[in-house]
Amino acid sequence: MTITVGIAGASGYSGGELIALISNHPEFELKYLAASSKVGKEVSSLHPHLAHLNHGAFKATDSKALNECDLVFLALPHGASAEIAKEISNAKIVDLGADFRLENENDWTKYYAGDSAHAGTWTYGLSEIVGQEVIAKSSRVANPGCYATAIAFGTLPMLEFVDANDIVVVAASGTSGAGRAANENLLASELIGSVSSYKTGGIHQHTPEIEQTLRNASDKDVKISFTPLLAPMTRGIHATITAKLIKDVSASDVWAAYDKRYLNSEFVTVLGNGQQPKTSSVLGSNNVQIQTVVDIHTNRVVTTVVIDNLVKGAAGQAVQNANLMFGFNEATGLTKIGIAP
Ligand SMILES: NC(=O)c1ccc[n+]([C@@H]2O[C@H](COP(=O)([O-])OP(=O)(O)OC[C@H]3O[C@@H](n4cnc5c(N)ncnc54)[C@H](OP(=O)(O)O)[C@@H]3O)[C@@H](O)[C@H]2O)c1
Repeated sequence: MTITVGIAGASGYSGGELIALISNHPEFELKYLAASSKVGKEVSSLHPHLAHLNHGAFKATDSKALNECDLVFLALPHGASAEIAKEISNAKIVDLGADFRLENENDWTKYYAGDSAHAGTWTYGLSEIVGQEVIAKSSRVANPGCYATAIAFGTLPMLEFVDANDIVVVAASGTSGAGRAANENLLASELIGSVSSYKTGGIHQHTPEIEQTLRNASDKDVKISFTPLLAPMTRGIHATITAKLIKDVSASDVWAAYDKRYLNSEFVTVLGNGQQPKTSSVLGSNNVQIQTVVDIHTNRVVTTVVIDNLVKGAAGQAVQNANLMFGFNEATGLTKIGIAP
């Protein structure tokens, strides 16, 4: 039986990646592509790489039409998902936004203040950490944030060796991480040839999400100091995570812990000795690449992680979750082969 799919926010970057993945999926079929300001525009005018698929024009974000699909992806700005989710009762939903990720209402108010009330919590869709079986039982899944995905993968295995209260993360994102909406900071003339920090001082909204994921997975009180960077590239996240060792372990013990943690994870590769993650290695794929070493000078674990923010950080992970929710292999319709060079 084919699973019919509706996408709200189909004109955005994550929405475009969802259209591409679902167009190639053997079990899912696109039925309703919704937008907001772009209603009536041809899908190919916003996503010219999909022109040959003849998807027609974007339709209105109509909850009744979305509810007639078996599966709905919400790829909307935060606050908008909770509104529309209230009106969808039949379809299973994967929300790519933040509305249903945070358990603590105060975290929502502090980091997403002013937009809308805390809407509640859905199953957190990071299957490699929360477990495939948990997602398979869910009809509503909150897809993780892009930084949150990379940083959670890179941090979890080190928690048994390090001071979990003092984890330092510096992570760079490409510009598509900010979505398609016009923004002066994202003009080519501001960006090209320059790397810039933003939201410094622990105010990035993914901070509580990462701490929550790691706390739930480890039972440790995890605190991270997270500094995001904007890099002059369209896609990709590169995260560097460091923390002080509190156990007498060797670099190979730490590496082995990572390797063991992700041995059965289809999309996660812990790189061999000397190989360094680079964003271009995962471009266009649902893969995560990780390297971990010990800096003996400061006695710190140093872990680096890369993902494609629009695939494993958004649409690919959303399809991975939807596969599990409908009983398919989680890798169905997803690629592990990226684009290179
Ligand atoms: N970009 C990433 O790397 C990434 C990664 C992980 C998670 N996410 C999350 O995914 C969501 C979408 O992000 P994006 O980067 O794809 O954003 P985007 O490119 O800005 O696209 C936003 C989409 O939402 C639609 N929209 C805006 N306001 C709406 C409303 N009130 N009702 C219905 N539709 C509305 C827009 O429609 P029109 O264009 O027609 O106005 C557009 O299709 C966000 O919550 C974001 O945080 C993004």
